[in-house]
Amino acid sequence: VSAGGIRSGDPTDGAFGAVFSARQVARVRELLARLYNARRMIRFYPSDHPAVGEALAGLMATIRAFHAEGADVPLTFFEDELLLGDQLLPEDSVMFDQLIRDMMSIGAGSVTFRAGLDESELERAVRVLSLEVGEVLRAGGLERAVAVADLPHVTFATVTIVEKESEEETDAVPGRGPARRAYSAALDLMRELERVIQRQESLGAGRIRGVARSLVENVLSNRFAMLELSGLKDHDEYTFYHSVNVSVLSLAVGSAITHDLRFLSSLGVGSLLHDIGKMTVDLEILNKPGALTSHEWADVRRHPVLGAETAASIPGLDRSSVVVALEHHMRFDLTGYPARKPERRQHLASRIVAIADAYDAMTSRRAYSAARLQDEAMSILLRNAGSAFDPALVRSFVRIMGIYPPRAVVRLTTGETAVVLAPDERDVARPTVRVFADAAGVMIDPFDVSLADEGSGRSVERCLDEDAINVDVEEYL
Ligand SMILES: [Fe+2]
Repeated sequence: VSAGGIRSGDPTDGAFGAVFSARQVARVRELLARLYNARRMIRFYPSDHPAVGEALAGLMATIRAFHAEGADVPLTFFEDELLLGDQLLPEDSVMFDQLIRDMMSIGAGSVTFRAGLDESELERAVRVLSLEVGEVLRAGGLERAVAVADLPHVTFATVTIVEKESEEETDAVPGRGPARRAYSAALDLMRELERVIQRQESLGAGRIRGVARSLVENVLSNRFAMLELSGLKDHDEYTFYHSVNVSVLSLAVGSAITHDLRFLSSLGVGSLLHDIGKMTVDLEILNKPGALTSHEWADVRRHPVLGAETAASIPGLDRSSVVVALEHHMRFDLTGYPARKPERRQHLASRIVAIADAYDAMTSRRAYSAARLQDEAMSILLRNAGSAFDPALVRSFVRIMGIYPPRAVVRLTTGETAVVLAPDERDVARPTVRVFADAAGVMIDPFDVSLADEGSGRSVERCLDEDAINVDVEEYL
């Protein structure tokens, strides 16, 4: 093994000839799950976040179990297959196909975790394995990245990256890279805000404003990528995703009204923080599956006031966030909560956020209700235009998102299945879609169609539940 821990070419030395016991083969599944998880944590969280340390400690423990038995852990990723030594792992190859593809894409043909590995070296190794192909190329290739990371107990066999197109060009929606970075930064901010608020510490307004500003910039320059990301949901981290989605959707509406950066960035801050009052409401109440008692309900209804107080306590924060937190449940007809005497119209930012909030909440799965499909949520917004919501803003929302918004999975009148890429200005019901399954439900080479084009010969029949038809739209975006 060379000093840099790199070995190119055929992965055939002692470790690869080793025979693994059934128990070890079973254990490697846990190892792969933990490796997959550790990469996710590293990509998602700042390096000092406890979730990163926990994920790495779990992975280390599993690797140590092999080392304690005198075995290295040689993993090979080849085509769609995964091997432990020279033993093919057919089930794991299916379960971890994303991991295999990721490893192939950065040129990691095999990775061996050898005895002597400790936690800090493992962390450096997993950081290398968490790079995206663009980052590897910028680092001067995987060999170079491995050499820099200094990994004496991790052996890589590299394969040349077959670079199809650059990262940006392979994306269905342009600007996805920067959009994704802005989106994750906003998620991180929400996670940190919750920590800080629960510990009764405070966070600088500058950081919040910086995140909002980058959401604004991306909504202005990478609008479709941002709209598509705003369809991301996470049941466990509902509040964080919800806040970021509401912010993106609000900014999309706001930017249709004005490009004034002062207004947009304060709308960005206000929408991100609209629900911070919930960070102090008992989680058990918020996630309660059944009906709330009147006491619990009263508690939930306090979140606008609590949120306004919290926002007001952050020095230097835009006043609009206080207003939005307070007003987002007041409804357009002012029959919502909290009641305000004398009555005064909701602020423009609050009216925008109320729509984005309702849409994202309806399309998310909650402890007490299933997620609604996107087209159904749109029709509920339209039905409540004039009562709960400002009708002009609802129209604007539908125009921006389309009836079938980006990331929605739809059945076409031809029987084909497609994912929506972008709405079309010409007709809110005829977006541009990427067709990926034929009328018989057979996966095909995806192709794009503008349904608003005359002669496309197709229209949308309805939205489908992505989970029910077992499709990961991420693959087609
Ligand atoms: Fe709320």
